[in-house]
Amino acid sequence: KKKVTIQALQSVARKGDKITMITAHDYPTSLWAERAGAETILVGDSLAMVALGYDSTVSITLDEMLHHCRAVARGSKHAFLIADLPFGTYEACAKDAIRAAQRMVKEGKMEAVKIEGGKDMAETARAIVRSGIPVLGHIGLTPQRLAMLGGFRVQGKSAASAKVLVEDALALQDAGCFAVVLEAVPAPVAEYITRQLRIPTIGIGAGAGCSGQVLVQQDMLGIFDRFVPKFCKQYANMSETAVEALANYCREVKAGKFPGVEHTYPMPAEELAKFEA
Ligand code: KIV
Ligand code: NA
Repeated sequence: KKKVTIQALQSVARKGDKITMITAHDYPTSLWAERAGAETILVGDSLAMVALGYDSTVSITLDEMLHHCRAVARGSKHAFLIADLPFGTYEACAKDAIRAAQRMVKEGKMEAVKIEGGKDMAETARAIVRSGIPVLGHIGLTPQRLAMLGGFRVQGKSAASAKVLVEDALALQDAGCFAVVLEAVPAPVAEYITRQLRIPTIGIGAGAGCSGQVLVQQDMLGIFDRFVPKFCKQYANMSETAVEALANYCREVKAGKFPGVEHTYPMPAEELAKFEA
């Protein structure tokens, strides 16, 4: 299997095949995504909520993200690796953005970065791309701007706001983004944007008309089940499986059933006799 590149991803989309993206936040979840054949792995800052227990994504720092990126990179050989630049590391100026993106590459072992925002972030995206680091755009529901959006809710439902999304997507393409994530956008709007762009769209809650799909691994596996977005399909219920297994262990310890002989180191009989004498 070959290492996935942005050129490979764009050619997948040109052929009309779908791009697969899964988030990962540590070594085992990276190995799983890789073994499942995901073409791209995203170290999304959603990990702030679903792996670290923060109540939004705005608190996570670049250093925290880097710690997770390195673990994910150690688990992946083929997938194209992308990480979110966290809130507060890229919005103020292009210099900040380039430095943060460079740390993602040098220290986090990532190949590309994702930033949230449309037209207003296009110049930032352009600056990062010019510095030699591929950028994935992200518009629609942008969780780092939760306070502005007033909650996790669908974006681009009115004709006027849908038109703004189209302009945002075009601005990001023009800035040199290699693809754009569309999150929580009505399917017809996402499909329209996908037809308008030369670069691929990666949908999450944006319908089947996108060039590819992404889901948050902890949501789709039922690892994080305190809140499951409408657009997430749960392919497994890992937290149920895990709690059942852990409860079994506790029961068996209490009952003296674990550990069994097979989990125990024996001692040669003669040594044991000497020891007990
Ligand atoms: O943080 C994340 O996991 C994301 C994806 C949902 C696109 O940004
Ligand atoms: Na994110």
